[in-house]
Amino acid sequence: MPQTFYITTPIYYVNDRPHIGHVYTTTIADVIARYHRLRGDDVFFLTGVDEHAAKVVDAAAQRGLTPQQWADQNAKVFEDTFNKLGITHNDFVRTSQDRHKIKVREYLAALLKSGDVYQGEYEGWYDAGQEEYVTDSKAEEYGFKSPINGKPLVRKREKNYFFKLSAYRQPLQQFFEENKTFVQPDARRNEILNRIAEAVDVPISRTGAGGWGIPFPGDAEQTVYVWIDALFNYLTFVDTPDRRHYWQSGATHLIAKDILWFHAAIWPALLMAMRKCDGYDWVVPPRQIYAHSFWISEGQKMSKSLGNFIDLEKIDQYVATFSLDALRYFLATNGPMGTTDSDFAEAKFIEVYNTDLANTLGNCFSRVCNMTGRYFGGNIPVKGPGASREIGEAFVAVENRTDSLPTQAFVEHRVADWRGSLDGLNISFGCENVRKLVSAVDTYIEQTAPFKLAKDPAKLPEVGTILYNCAEALRIASVLLWPVIPAKCEEIWRRIGCSHYAEALANKGRGDLAEWVKWGQLKPGTPLLTGDALFPRWQPPK
Ligand code: MSP
Repeated sequence: MPQTFYITTPIYYVNDRPHIGHVYTTTIADVIARYHRLRGDDVFFLTGVDEHAAKVVDAAAQRGLTPQQWADQNAKVFEDTFNKLGITHNDFVRTSQDRHKIKVREYLAALLKSGDVYQGEYEGWYDAGQEEYVTDSKAEEYGFKSPINGKPLVRKREKNYFFKLSAYRQPLQQFFEENKTFVQPDARRNEILNRIAEAVDVPISRTGAGGWGIPFPGDAEQTVYVWIDALFNYLTFVDTPDRRHYWQSGATHLIAKDILWFHAAIWPALLMAMRKCDGYDWVVPPRQIYAHSFWISEGQKMSKSLGNFIDLEKIDQYVATFSLDALRYFLATNGPMGTTDSDFAEAKFIEVYNTDLANTLGNCFSRVCNMTGRYFGGNIPVKGPGASREIGEAFVAVENRTDSLPTQAFVEHRVADWRGSLDGLNISFGCENVRKLVSAVDTYIEQTAPFKLAKDPAKLPEVGTILYNCAEALRIASVLLWPVIPAKCEEIWRRIGCSHYAEALANKGRGDLAEWVKWGQLKPGTPLLTGDALFPRWQPPK
């Protein structure tokens, strides 16, 4: 059954340029959004930028610009980058836009009225880089330096508005209890649960920052704390009559571990508080917060001074050398989903590219096209009387298994495993499943040796069956891989007479996964077009 599906990325600070971390989260969200569109779901995918940070004021001042001028310039860099990288977001957040600012003030006015927001005073250790207070015990543990960037913490005292987070300890614990997969991975969930037990009220307004920010309702001296302003983006941008159903369907927030506390504790508590206010009974908590880990680079933390920073220029180089889909595939299959950091290393990238993309998928597709050209004049052959083996038997050899399945059942199993993986946001495992399917096709070709059989004209019907099975399995593999490597899969579709998939996805924004993965849809007689290698094998320049 088609669902409504809403997915978001963090909104990124515009003080700096986009880098691989931002590109990663947004690409993974794009893969998930595309997967749901492929299923036929009604998808809304939101990404964008967070503009009201104090560090944006500093970055602008260094360049002799106003914060708004700098934010305008850099928001465009983020948006252009995401467009260039094939990201299919449905809207692009800019928190300096009126449509956001007006709603945030409305929400806070309601919370002031309900009493969950009140005025008070705060003193504590402040991490300016992260724009957040650190608890006294954490400050001490880290030697009064930022746990994130190591810069000294500052002692700060402010008159602020506060959100009564302490009143939501028990409701949050109960919510976590009733929604076991609310925070993923599980290890992250436990960290947050422990911290919720000691949650204290949080300041949600600021003085200073040169007035850069959303004016606090009813108090011209204060602006809304950038983190509260930012979290609300997930709601403000869909709080319109035509989009509200996306919020109500339960948002999936994809983030990294650095910003989990805000998302997993403060945000659901704010939403619980809002729901109690007049006119907001439609506000529900998100469905899931998935916090991935970090990319490091060439074995070390990414840093500009070490020269291992994967910035926009580096990203462009990878795309120019290997293709955008190769970058997407590497991010999707070797990235830090889960609780361990991943290493972005050039040698690893090349190995994955050559092994999975050039030698497995690209090579297998060329082999099938070439043999079809040679033995059947380039048209998809008719399945003749049976071939002696099944693709599922080849899988037994690939996987060292003892059971074997007929071809169609085998492919159905791969599809089911892939769907299960993507539903659980386990993209790398999903891709691994498709890679196995393609490897099994390769082994099947080795085992059945159509290139030998074809020497005997009496065996051509059998060769036809073998090549049909191969082409059909590759067609299904290309449907499954589309969310990850869309351009190359669309190229496969063009060559096998399935361009209508791409047209449906582009025109209707929805696919028909259940139909497209059914075995036996490739039409015999359809021309199988030859062309350039999908992923030319990469050789080091001499
Ligand atoms: N503006 C806040 C988020 C507000 S969301 C309501 C912010 N911005 S940020 O520009 O610092 O982006 C943080 C996010 O960028 C991380 O949560 C993650 O999604 C991504 N990454 C930044 N560096 C990263 C890595 N080295 N590796 C992987 N992703 C990382 O925090």
